[in-house]
Amino acid sequence: MKSLNIPLSGDDFKFIQQLMYDSSGVYIEDGRFDFVHLRLAEIVRLRQLKDFKEYCKILTESREHVQEMVDALTTNLTHFFRESHHFKFLKEVIFSELKENNKVRIWSSACSTGEEAYSIAMEALSYFSLQAGKSIQVLASDIDSKSLQKSRARNLSN
Ligand SMILES: C[S@@+](CC[C@H](N)C(=O)[O-])C[C@H]1O[C@@H](n2cnc3c(N)ncnc32)[C@H](O)[C@@H]1O
Repeated sequence: MKSLNIPLSGDDFKFIQQLMYDSSGVYIEDGRFDFVHLRLAEIVRLRQLKDFKEYCKILTESREHVQEMVDALTTNLTHFFRESHHFKFLKEVIFSELKENNKVRIWSSACSTGEEAYSIAMEALSYFSLQAGKSIQVLASDIDSKSLQKSRARNLSN
């Protein structure tokens, strides 16, 4: 692959690892060197930068570049009802504890492109049906701005 002709030094990797942690709270383990190299070399190439040194420099200059790096280093695999055991737990343990609550607030905190939030909403609707006086809200967020953009642009309720 062409982008991997751009070498990533140990120091630049450490810089990116630290910046990712400081800006997003996501810790990238040392063993993920090749993953970081592969994902970010593409940005270095597309931006026609000389090398990773120059890339690290632009990362210090704008928040936009940092967000682009965060987006590139997240993995957004998702689909409806992914990890079905989580939904089993949600119904059998969480929802059953919330039966008596009039307000149910659920946060899908790493929702990717939104399928998880919709899956939770569907489960909640079918579990609580239209119980009088019950209000259910699902909040969805993600650290990856591209995934959020994509989820806002789609209407998954159709
Ligand atoms: C593998 S996807 C899973 C998506 C969804 N939860 C599901 O199970 O279908 C992981 C998601 O977590 C997000 N993520 C990773 N670290 C995060 C953080 N610190 N805060 C918010 N979102 C985060 C990523 O951007 C990515 O979209």
